[in-house]
Amino acid sequence: MLRVLGLTLLLTLSGYAIAEPIADTHSEMSGCESCHVDSEPSADLDYENGACVECHGFLKEFADETHQKHFEILACSDCHLAHDEANPNDSCAKCH
Ligand code: HEC
Ligand code: HEC
Ligand code: HEC
Ligand code: HEC
Repeated sequence: MLRVLGLTLLLTLSGYAIAEPIADTHSEMSGCESCHVDSEPSADLDYENGACVECHGFLKEFADETHQKHFEILACSDCHLAHDEANPNDSCAKCH
């Protein structure tokens, strides 16, 4: 529930720029440490991908099929490039 309230607040106060890299939007919200330890990526990104799940939930809990279908198959960073403006829709062709 807090997550949902946070969204409402964010949309209301700061507007919402989908084209901005995730790392930028999230650093503005809660800093590099919301995803990293000491602002450095872990070698396997397990820590970072675990952080995504702690705030957003598991893939099977998303409302849409694209997320659900990859539960226990992919990590967030397989499709979302945190520091790029890349659109995750462009990731599909890497594997399919
Ligand atoms: C939303 C989570 C998130 C936030 C916030 C975040 N990062 Fe990252 N960062 C990642 C992920 C995931 C990677 C792995 C590469 C990728 O997906 O872009 C990464 C990669 C990196 C790298 C490796 C080089 C690169 O660009 O790939 C550095 C250095 C880094 N982050 C530093 C930072 C610093 C400094 C901040 C704060 C200004 C920050 N990150 C904020 C998730 C995040
Ligand atoms: C500290 C909590 C937190 C962490 C950690 C976190 N997120 Fe978020 N994320 C949010 C909130 C809050 C929003 C804004 C409201 C929303 O869309 O749910 C958001 C928004 C997003 C969005 C919408 C576009 C944007 O940039 O705002 C994407 C995509 C996203 N997160 C992916 C990720 C991924 C991938 C990771 C891990 C690399 C991650 N998040 C880590 C809390 C978090
Ligand atoms: C199979 C690729 C894929 C994986 C894996 C993936 N995503 Fe996504 N995600 C997408 C795509 C594609 C979109 C953009 C949907 C659109 O708006 O066109 C998206 C959008 C989002 C959004 C914004 C819209 C929404 O559904 O709320 C969030 C937040 C998000 N992803 C978080 C995550 C998190 C957290 C993980 C890991 C637990 C993750 N994603 C793993 C492909 C993926
Ligand atoms: C890093 C590799 C990778 C990426 C990127 C990726 N997928 Fe997948 N996807 C898989 C794997 C592995 C499976 C499970 C095996 C299979 O069914 O092909 C899967 C399964 C699926 C399924 C379920 C197929 C079924 O028969 O149930 C759908 C639908 C799907 N992916 C769509 C997408 C879409 C849409 C995107 C981009 C937004 C995407 N995938 C990105 C690797 C990937």
